[in-house]
Amino acid sequence: MSVIVVVGAQWGDEGKGKVVDLLAERAQVVVRFSGGDNAGHTVINPYGKFGLHLVPSGIFSAGATCIIGNGVVINPSKLIEELDELNKCGVSVDQLIISDRAHLIMPYHLLLDGLEEERRAGEAVGTTRRGIGPAFADKVARLGIRAGELLDKKVLRKRLHFIIDYKNIILSKVYEASLLSLDEVYTQYCHYGERLAPYIKETTVILAEALSRDQRILLEGAQGTLLDPDFGTYPYTTSSSPLAGGGCLGAGIGPTNIDSVMGVFKVYCTRVGNGPMPTELHDKTGNLIREQAHEYGTTTGRPRRCGWFDAPAARLSQRINGFTGLALTRLDVLDILPNLKICTAYKLDGKTIDNFPSSVAELERCQPVYEEMDGWQTSTTHIKKFDRLPPKAQQYITRLEELIACPVNLISVGSAREQTIEVRPVW
Ligand code: IMP
Repeated sequence: MSVIVVVGAQWGDEGKGKVVDLLAERAQVVVRFSGGDNAGHTVINPYGKFGLHLVPSGIFSAGATCIIGNGVVINPSKLIEELDELNKCGVSVDQLIISDRAHLIMPYHLLLDGLEEERRAGEAVGTTRRGIGPAFADKVARLGIRAGELLDKKVLRKRLHFIIDYKNIILSKVYEASLLSLDEVYTQYCHYGERLAPYIKETTVILAEALSRDQRILLEGAQGTLLDPDFGTYPYTTSSSPLAGGGCLGAGIGPTNIDSVMGVFKVYCTRVGNGPMPTELHDKTGNLIREQAHEYGTTTGRPRRCGWFDAPAARLSQRINGFTGLALTRLDVLDILPNLKICTAYKLDGKTIDNFPSSVAELERCQPVYEEMDGWQTSTTHIKKFDRLPPKAQQYITRLEELIACPVNLISVGSAREQTIEVRPVW
């Protein structure tokens, strides 16, 4: 088993940072393959507590090469901030590589993300306002600027000239906003280029070589499956694919090289931003989960919407990712609850359905059908073995495993690395 993809299986924030931090210790290469600094991967380890947005969570693993893949959109100023912060804490970033094909977030992307959200008003997506959507839109519209172009100032100026002229028309005529100065953007991005140049490389060759040496490669997903622009709750989605398949495209390796796909699920659900979430709790229990688990966004600080585990959503996630194993996180958050619910199906217009509809309008009409269980009401945070968990916690996990139809590898019972139960070995 040499290549594993780690995927967020719900609406993001499942705890991928911790899982990747743990598995990266056993990997030689870690590649972030999608999203941008909209992601926030919380990692707590002997170096301290970090909220990583762009740098792969494998950066703490000495000797692991960490690649920001072509599928990521990079805000250079945020990346530089993150590198400085890591350096300050004594973490070496020498092993970082940035794909020369990765697209850059530009000042107009940030402006347009905010302006468009405001224009949409009641229909807003609730984006992180990090310029992600506009940057991916430019990538497919062939208007993007890639990291490799930072290495050639002449090319950069020429491309910027053409693009900023166009963006200024949109900014002024559509949104009545102020114009951007070509010279200012150019000078700023030249500085970024000088700082990031040592890291920018062609990465497919590096990955092919790692594969030929049978090295362990970990592809690190961002966001979650239900935010995928094809399969998520469109249009309330992000703009790049967080799916296992996105791992091939966003890292630059073929599907035949993937050996395993790990789905990371919280044992309940959370979501930030707008859009349907059938099991959302608007009551005391929802607030209790939010406060107990400190469910506030790593990137934006927004309170996360909390709800019960949603099996129809989980089954969609399994179908489109093909998980070979699961990491179930935040079991300890449920320790205090006297009763638990799992949504096993929905009632939609009088009918019981067990799939996750593609239409947002239908999802909004879905009423969860719940199975209820007693809680275990005892702390699990110190437990290291599955059979030492309270029997009711074991039953809960086994039921999730049955509903998702996939075996569990890891259970997380706290934020520290050692608060992890390895039910089955991953690597
Ligand atoms: P964007 O990716 O900033 O365009 O935001 C689109 C949607 O994805 C919004 O609902 C965001 O809240 C959500 N989103 C983006 N990144 C994350 C993440 O890392 N975790 C959870 N939700 C996210």
